[in-house]
Amino acid sequence: MKDLPPQKRKALVQCLLVWYDKSRRRLPWRPLPGQSVDPYRVWLSEIMLQQTTVAAVGPYFQSFVKRWPTMNALAAAPVDEIMSAWSGLGYYSRARNLHACAKRVAAEYGGSLPNDEAELKSLPGIGSYTAAAIAAIAFGKQAAPVDGNIERVLARLFAVREKLPAAKPLLKNLAEALAPQARSGDFAQAMMDLGATICTPKSPTCESCPWIRSCAARKSGLERALPARSTKKKRPLRRGTAFVVISGGSEILLRRRPPKGLLGGMHETPMSAWEANFPSDPLCLAPTKSKYRMIEGLVHHTFTHFDLELQVFVSNVNSRQRGSIEGEWAPINDLAHFALPSVMRKIIEHALNPAKA
Ligand code: ADE
Repeated sequence: MKDLPPQKRKALVQCLLVWYDKSRRRLPWRPLPGQSVDPYRVWLSEIMLQQTTVAAVGPYFQSFVKRWPTMNALAAAPVDEIMSAWSGLGYYSRARNLHACAKRVAAEYGGSLPNDEAELKSLPGIGSYTAAAIAAIAFGKQAAPVDGNIERVLARLFAVREKLPAAKPLLKNLAEALAPQARSGDFAQAMMDLGATICTPKSPTCESCPWIRSCAARKSGLERALPARSTKKKRPLRRGTAFVVISGGSEILLRRRPPKGLLGGMHETPMSAWEANFPSDPLCLAPTKSKYRMIEGLVHHTFTHFDLELQVFVSNVNSRQRGSIEGEWAPINDLAHFALPSVMRKIIEHALNPAKA
């Protein structure tokens, strides 16, 4: 991309904003036309949307703002309650950072987020993308958030042939060159919506795109081929054994993971370490001396850096055996109140309903 003449830039911005005014998605964190923006809600939604889809975030966002309507309310909440309300959303360090950030903003800024992009970036859980998104959407700053969706839109609009991830700095420059001074938050969200609804990875619906006549990839028939990507390394596979111990048919044995590291501080069913192979003698790792049966099939879960396969053993214990077992007992009918990561819910589901899991 050589340069972006001011007239062309203005036309591109104008065209996308007109489309956004007609076609924007109604999302729970977006104020309706005429309502003012609440930076707390913008921040909360952006943290939740990191690595998570709009559809999954909706109900969590609604329940958080109902329960903790302000930054100060969230800062004052016990971290365990926040972890529990977050459970199922995944990437739990985000929930810890959310709370740490709320406490910092309450203590240092009187509960109001700072409006400066660099200052935002210095807060827990706020990286470059989120700082730019908040600066633009909550404070109308001329900032350019760039995530995977926006990279795709820009790579196509300007027919950037350089492969990702090497092309990232170029795409960021293009985003900054385009970002308007006025309505920068709407512009950023318009690019997000375009990437999510029209300029999709595999089957873009170019006929509905406001930028169809400007799109360089489309002119060259490259819209499906871009952005190009260096071949990805396959995720390594890890394996382990999980133990589901059920007391009196109604409660499950849980323990806490160590506070640091993956799923830090969350509840889990007792289990082995996750390694290249299944443990050679899994039952010697079982948390009780009771009798176990292996459930047919495996639980599969994908983390950012590896795939996980788990075999599951189940044991039923009676009240006499239960007395000597260390851990917490969670009522099966009330697991929603425990901060249980998705992989743990899958394990329990597999143990209780093997055919469905
Ligand atoms: N993804 C990340 N932030 C978003 C937002 N504000 N609107 C829609 N999708 C998003």
